[in-house]
Amino acid sequence: MKIITVIGARPQFIKAATVSRKLKEYPEIEEIILHTGQHYDKNISDIFFEELNIPSPKYNLNVGSASHGAQTAKMLHDIEEVLLNEKPDCVLVYGDTNSTIAGAMAAVKLHIPVAHVEAGLRSFNRKMPEEINRIVTDAVSDLLLAPTKNAVKQLNIEGKQESTVFVGDVMYDSVLYYKSMIDKRDKPAIIAGIDSFYLCTIHRAENTDIEDNLRAIFNALAQTKKTILLPLHPRTKHIISKMNIKIADNIRIIEPVGYLDMLSLLVHCDKMITDSGGVQKEAYFLQKPCITLRNETEWIETLENGWNTLCGANMQAILDACDSMPGKQTMLEEFGDGNAADKIIQLMLKKFS
Ligand code: UD1
Ligand code: UDP
Repeated sequence: MKIITVIGARPQFIKAATVSRKLKEYPEIEEIILHTGQHYDKNISDIFFEELNIPSPKYNLNVGSASHGAQTAKMLHDIEEVLLNEKPDCVLVYGDTNSTIAGAMAAVKLHIPVAHVEAGLRSFNRKMPEEINRIVTDAVSDLLLAPTKNAVKQLNIEGKQESTVFVGDVMYDSVLYYKSMIDKRDKPAIIAGIDSFYLCTIHRAENTDIEDNLRAIFNALAQTKKTILLPLHPRTKHIISKMNIKIADNIRIIEPVGYLDMLSLLVHCDKMITDSGGVQKEAYFLQKPCITLRNETEWIETLENGWNTLCGANMQAILDACDSMPGKQTMLEEFGDGNAADKIIQLMLKKFS
């Protein structure tokens, strides 16, 4: 069986790493990696291929940055060409980025079956580009690989019972796999001498592209009076400089870090402050309270007993959440048993070979 994996953005490299590692155990499967080039800076792209041993992409489309329409259209055009040439048995896509929707749409129009990892997630906020990408990708995919029972429920509501399977979350597989390595590593040098800090990431359009929101978030970070370590996404870096936002002394901006350093920083931080989808889950898996800079989350399981608090860009809500502590955590099994990758591969073999 020949699979083409279409990836292009940081969270997809991390998710695909787990499945690609397992795929190496199946000699009957050939996996070809297609990198759209949506992310291209070394520290949000190449670093993950090197660190997580992801096979080198056979194709890199180098689409780069552009508006949604221009970027997705270029991907569609170039992915189609590769699919026509390679004639795979199926296309595997991850998550909810423009690379996801482009991979799924290019394949379905050529009657190539699509498997979608992280199917069934919904924030119900159609202003988020990711929500549109999820809805469309689920609508055209043949195998909907749901990471949680709530995702299964949602796909059932949408009448997609026949193509839906609960497999668990590949990011949970990943945290379980790498946690022991993290525990054996030295602390990242950047936190030498810092006993207590909050870790923070910010990159979602609803925060970066609305000036009031971004300013409110940086004000809140300043007022925590706590050391805040902020590995900064290039999108946010460009915008902070354009808006001339003043960075308070307690906020330490660093370049984006590799996955193992990121997990390690999470293990050592007091709390996580983020608008990332994946990081909300990782905080939950590693039992770190998370303050989410969004008004809704598609990962509703993480809200259990205050482990994750939705604050949007509301300064007071962020500060209040910094002061509160969560209760008991009991819902980890919602994310599967740590073998999502194997289940995904077995299902693709059964359905598409
Ligand atoms: C994308 C995804 C988002 C995901 C995030 C993960 C979409 C619509 N959004 O957002 O769901 O959470 O990736 O990190 O697919 N840039 C660089 N260097 C790069 C890449 C981007 O400087 O290597 C800058 C450019 O100014 C670019 C901006 O970041 O315009 C946004 O990049 P883009 O890939 O469009 O979206 P992300 O914000 O990264
Ligand atoms: N991540 C990382 N380095 C960083 C910030 C994040 O390796 O500096 C990892 C993080 O641990 C998680 C993934 O990137 O596995 C999440 O990606 P991101 O926040 O970019 O996207 P989202 O999940 O919001 O789509």
